Amino acid sequence: MNFNDKLNQLKDLFIKDSTTLSYSEIKKKYSGKGSVVDLLTDEFKKLSSDEKKDYGSLLQEVKKEIHEFINKKEEIKVTKKILDVTAYKPNAKRGHLHPYTHITRKLEDIFISMGYAIHSGPEIETEYINFEALNIPADHPARDMQDTFWLNIPGFLLRTHTSTVQIHALKQEPPIAIFVPGRAYRCEATDASHDVVFMQAEGMLVGENITLGDLVGTLKDLFKRLLGNDKIRLRPSYFPFVEPGLEVDAQCPFCKDGCATCKYSTWIEIAGAGMIHPNVLEKAGINQDKYNGFAFGMGLTRLAMILYGISDIRLFQSDKLEFLNQFN
Ligand code: FA5
Repeated sequence: MNFNDKLNQLKDLFIKDSTTLSYSEIKKKYSGKGSVVDLLTDEFKKLSSDEKKDYGSLLQEVKKEIHEFINKKEEIKVTKKILDVTAYKPNAKRGHLHPYTHITRKLEDIFISMGYAIHSGPEIETEYINFEALNIPADHPARDMQDTFWLNIPGFLLRTHTSTVQIHALKQEPPIAIFVPGRAYRCEATDASHDVVFMQAEGMLVGENITLGDLVGTLKDLFKRLLGNDKIRLRPSYFPFVEPGLEVDAQCPFCKDGCATCKYSTWIEIAGAGMIHPNVLEKAGINQDKYNGFAFGMGLTRLAMILYGISDIRLFQSDKLEFLNQFN
């Protein structure tokens, strides 16, 4: 192999190595003492003066190409260092979780420890699942209580409550124990305690011989761990998808004798609840000779307002940093 062949071989090898080797490997192999370029330069020195004339400029060309390539790589390495997005920056402002995320995680932990699965469901729903399947037929006055955002696709809407996820979950064979935090939408005028988009959380247990006592026990356990007190108050209420229906109040965690948060009643309204209505189970095809269950729904946004002492619901979705930074 003459010197020209060796030069071509070096060029080919370098082209291949430049795409497969790292910068430091290339630098080690092609520059400095003992490198392949260095060895070929030593061989060049031993050539006759005629051969030196023939190959001298070719060798210089190859060396120049390799040198420039290595220099460019070095430049990129330095630039990359300047742009290192993982570099530590003192006094940098850090992001933090939204209060919704804080409260959602807290509740999820409580329900996971009770053996519940965390579910979610579509926010765009059919009229059937949001209403009919939950025992709210078209002419039912309860539809007026939940002003609806209808989509311009007939039969579709933004879910007005997370109870819709009960219907999705009932497709599986009981026992079913689910907890569902999620957004709900209502076409209402906003004020300090009403927004058009807000967070709810639904709980449902379906199994054999479930009683109202199981529902009360579950809610007491929840309130004890969330508010530090398991005293609850049940009031009869009406929701078409449960029978009997209840309104569940917890003892105000902020006072003993009444305060602004509990509107001086010492109780705060937390959830709607009840035993799942037979019509809901029937529509879902659940064998009622064997199974029954309870469900409850909480205004998660309102709960966050109580727990964090927030007086206006609209702050949650505002871009006010002085509000959001409190949760840092
Ligand atoms: C329901 O939505 C039922 N699906 C709850 C339920 C589930 C009852 C299972 C029984 C069994 P209601 O319409 O009351 O119920 O809403 C529940 C909670 O959502 C309210 O107590 C309130 O905290 C919250 N909520 C309702 N509308 C708004 C709104 N516009 N802005 C903020 N929170 C709201």
